[in-house]
Amino acid sequence: MSETILILGAGGQIGGELTIKLRSIYGDDNVIASDIRESIFHQALNGPFEMLDATNKEAILATIKKYKVTQVYLLAALLSATGEQFPGKAWDLNMTSLLAVLDLAKEKHIKQVYWPSSIAAFGPTTPKQNTPQRTIMEPSTVYGISKISGEFWCNYYYEKYGVDVRSIRYPGIISWKTKPGGGTTDYAVDIFFKAVEQGSYECFLREDTRLPMMYMQDAVDATIQLMQADAKDIKIRTSYNLSAIDFTPKELSEEIKKHIPNFEITYKPDFRQEIADSWPQSIDDSHARTEWNWSHKFDISSMTQDIIKNLQAQKNQELETV
Ligand SMILES: NC(=O)c1ccc[n+]([C@@H]2O[C@H](COP(=O)([O-])OP(=O)(O)OC[C@H]3O[C@@H](n4cnc5c(N)ncnc54)[C@H](O)[C@@H]3O)[C@@H](O)[C@H]2O)c1
Repeated sequence: MSETILILGAGGQIGGELTIKLRSIYGDDNVIASDIRESIFHQALNGPFEMLDATNKEAILATIKKYKVTQVYLLAALLSATGEQFPGKAWDLNMTSLLAVLDLAKEKHIKQVYWPSSIAAFGPTTPKQNTPQRTIMEPSTVYGISKISGEFWCNYYYEKYGVDVRSIRYPGIISWKTKPGGGTTDYAVDIFFKAVEQGSYECFLREDTRLPMMYMQDAVDATIQLMQADAKDIKIRTSYNLSAIDFTPKELSEEIKKHIPNFEITYKPDFRQEIADSWPQSIDDSHARTEWNWSHKFDISSMTQDIIKNLQAQKNQELETV
């Protein structure tokens, strides 16, 4: 495969694991990771890393020229919970970076762009169950406003300038190698770390808050599958609904108890409850499944088993080295 890929915001939850997978496919030297902060994660990997601000179009262009980049994955963003605390910053980062990258593709410096949207693009008036691809979209967070706006910018650049931009509306992404970066679904990652470290967790959402989720391996695979799909199979140029599993904090805690029987969960909802209540509970992703053959591999039980096994092995290794 002869692509050279630049990842903007590679030091984050998704970027770290995407870097590893892309390097295994395209080769270490052909995947350039970049971020505005040093990442311990990337220091441990082979392959180039650049300090790069995703809002600085000229600096991105210089990096594209330096490495002869053909594709950009734009992952830098301020997420839902942090975005509500810094609305102006969230809008500025999320939109300026997207328009910079879309312009670079329009000017033919790169051939393909990946940019993720989110279930946050939906809102309180959206049907909550099996949310369709095309439906009412009236987001109530600044993050959601930036995602729905970004989706239409992507579609506009595709329609007007032929830019090959592809996008997925990620649900909450659950991982154990990298920690989350300030989203409303972060509890479903934190809970595993606390379960293994302390045997208990205080959840910032109510026990019955159902949200769509996905294990990181599935999210990374879906992203690369979409980018590798034949352009004629990509029928949606706003952003694809994508789904795997949905559960509540109570259901997840019961799954964890199968592996850690003494695990205890308490609930103390905060401002993130209102954000979660405005989002869908389950997603209809039939377009992704029929148009580019998406299918998920992990359900709640295989995901829980995999995460706990890995976190316990990591903990035992740390104890051995102390
Ligand atoms: N993680 C999820 O559950 C989830 C769900 C839906 C959508 N998404 C989307 O996926 C993308 C990646 O999310 P994530 O969870 O990895 O986010 P994250 O917060 O973990 O990582 C974002 C990274 O961007 C970097 N960054 C911030 N400002 C930057 C700038 N100006 N220039 C370059 N880098 C900058 C940060 O240092 C960080 O490493 C985002 O667009 C997010 O909206 C994530």
